[in-house]
Amino acid sequence: MEPGWSRALEQPIFLSMLPDVQDLRVLDLGCGVGQLSFHITIAGAAEVVAVDISETMLDLARSERSHPRVSYQREAIEDIRFEPGRFALIVSSLVLHYIPNYRDLVKRMATWLRPGGVLVYSTEHPIYTARLPGEGWIVDENGARVGWRIDNYFDEGMGEEHWFVDGVRKYHRTLATLLDGLLDAGFRIERVVEPAPDIDRLQLRPQESEHLRRPMFLLVRASVPPER
Ligand SMILES: C[S@@+](CC[C@H](N)C(=O)[O-])C[C@H]1O[C@@H](n2cnc3c(N)ncnc32)[C@H](O)[C@@H]1O
Repeated sequence: MEPGWSRALEQPIFLSMLPDVQDLRVLDLGCGVGQLSFHITIAGAAEVVAVDISETMLDLARSERSHPRVSYQREAIEDIRFEPGRFALIVSSLVLHYIPNYRDLVKRMATWLRPGGVLVYSTEHPIYTARLPGEGWIVDENGARVGWRIDNYFDEGMGEEHWFVDGVRKYHRTLATLLDGLLDAGFRIERVVEPAPDIDRLQLRPQESEHLRRPMFLLVRASVPPER
């Protein structure tokens, strides 16, 4: 997979948190241009259902990453429904902060997984989304970054930011909401990662030192019990 911008920090960890996908039926929520879906497909998944709301993204996915075992479908994550136990693995990379009603979604995900099924997701970290709207860095009169602004951490909900275009809507949720939502839905939380570069990595990519000052991503692996 070809990682871009800050994804370079998130992507290898995300992949390391996946189970062996051989013969699994997999759902990718917010597949974008299909990099993760395609990676999982060629790694041996039996079937990958890849959902995204953007026809532009899906067109690219279909033209550049098509495969007989992956189907790219246009749907809003808020509206999709599947029969219980349909999948063994659900993945979602950097999408959940765009989706309202997280608790409802993770409950639905738990039903779509078969017993023992696994969910791996990454999302923007609550310390990162707490700065919405606007830039989080506090800068001094010389333009140097002196800190990261955290305020109204407990005010959950939608904020708008500029990301190539104005009005990109993202949802801030506290860490407790994210993790507790999984527990309430019946998931067992197996691993939680806040990626930060180590010294070797910083020598190659000094620009990543900002990720030592505040977390940008949160990655979670959770599973439903083997027997319900
Ligand atoms: C930051 S991109 C991540 C794409 C992909 N998962 C990846 O890791 O490269 C977020 C994706 O979520 C999709 N998305 C945002 N809101 C959505 C929604 N309500 N339903 C389905 N997809 C959505 C966007 O179209 C976009 O492709």
